[in-house]
Amino acid sequence: MSVLDQVINKAQSTVPMQRQVQGMQLFQKARQLAFGDKQPVFVEEEIPDVDEVALTDIDMSNPFMWRQGQWGPYFKRLRDEAPVHFRANSAFGPYWSVTRYDDIITVDKDFETFSAEPQIVIGAPPKGLDVEMFIAMDPPRHDEQRNAVQGVVAPQNLDEMEGLIRSRVQEVLDSLPVNEPFDWVDKVSIELTARMLATLLDFPYEQRRKLVYWTEVTAASASATGGTSKVDEMWRAVADMAKSFSALWHDKAARLAAGEKPGFDLITLMQMSEDTKDLINRPMEFLGNLILLVVGGNDTTRNSMSGGVYALNQFPEEFDRLKADHSLIPKLVPEIIRWQTPLAYMRRIAKKDTVLNGQFIRKGDKVVMWYASANRDERVFENPDDFIIGRPNARNHLSFGIGVHRCMGARLAELQLRILWEELLERFEDIEVVEEPEYAQSNFVRGYTKMMVSLTPIG
Ligand code: HEM
Repeated sequence: MSVLDQVINKAQSTVPMQRQVQGMQLFQKARQLAFGDKQPVFVEEEIPDVDEVALTDIDMSNPFMWRQGQWGPYFKRLRDEAPVHFRANSAFGPYWSVTRYDDIITVDKDFETFSAEPQIVIGAPPKGLDVEMFIAMDPPRHDEQRNAVQGVVAPQNLDEMEGLIRSRVQEVLDSLPVNEPFDWVDKVSIELTARMLATLLDFPYEQRRKLVYWTEVTAASASATGGTSKVDEMWRAVADMAKSFSALWHDKAARLAAGEKPGFDLITLMQMSEDTKDLINRPMEFLGNLILLVVGGNDTTRNSMSGGVYALNQFPEEFDRLKADHSLIPKLVPEIIRWQTPLAYMRRIAKKDTVLNGQFIRKGDKVVMWYASANRDERVFENPDDFIIGRPNARNHLSFGIGVHRCMGARLAELQLRILWEELLERFEDIEVVEEPEYAQSNFVRGYTKMMVSLTPIG
């Protein structure tokens, strides 16, 4: 924890959290002026075909790889020719790319050699906005904090949530325009994800889009992932989150103290756990963990909802099979998550010198585990670029990672997708993507920003 964080944490009892965040922003602005640290600017240029590039020049951190559809051939070449590949310089500094399935499992499972601290993205968020979250902590701290909140997605809680999720999906689908193009990303993927996040947090329902906006802004800084968020905008979002979430915390604490039956939402669970019941007094950790849950659940689930529709349009025979046999839905879900791989990677730092698949990695080196490549590794998945409902090993995808950090929300994401597809196939004969989708600028999130579709109702 930085000295600044310690000061902030101490001040919590007397100064409202959003004021502390604003104070930090001023401090960082002054620092920026004094030391001149600036966010990088990324300008899109055409990425050459992979055969025209020297192996050592391959830079998978380019935030336009995904948007330009070049990631596939680049990863294939790395898997075949340099599965543990060193890029000596990039906008994010030097880093190793690990691209084969088996090597990624080795790294992800070995937290003693490969640390998730202090960040899991390739770069670093703007100074001061590098809030603490357990996805970027090693055991034992990681385990304590994860244990405190994972009840929110425990099977029993999910069973209770299923009916609510279904009714919200039905409401959204029944309000969609039919036989006229609309943006699926906005009207379905974002809307449903916002509703799910509001449910998890017991956040004021009518303000649910704020959760999406905040996470979009905080997760997309240029220095962290090559994204487009402005630093001032990020600070404002964090201050607003601090205000909203601390109000929610105090409101819930007061209701609990007054003897109200505890709910199963995230904040109540934090308040009930020994390890996190005083989290409000550690604002950076408090914010970090809430941001983690909303960021974790936002881009990922949302882009699986868009990716599934896109994949089925790319593979119309698979779509026909699905329409003819709805019992394929449970097999559809893992294939969507494999094919899409909503988060391209997680990053680690080597804690000691080590050797990985013949390459010598030094203590302190950045190591990027490219899940997007692992899920297309032909050593594991036959015809990996094809979308095949019922692929025998689809469930072995690495989109959720593996090891101590394996995605906490995996079952919830799967539940959401299953319900979405059950309800869609009940209503619509066809969901046609009518123009090429637009993609996010990021080396981390494989996101769709717009996808125009047209629905044909059944009957
Ligand atoms: C961790 C992907 C949905 C919450 C992760 C990791 C990945 C991931 C790759 C890191 C794994 C590792 O380092 O080994 C996804 C994908 C999703 C999804 C692809 C949807 C298709 C969700 C949802 C939530 C969530 C809905 C909200 C409840 C988290 C949390 C962590 C995490 C809290 C940190 C776990 C830890 O550090 O122990 N997710 N996620 N995720 N995810 Fe998800």
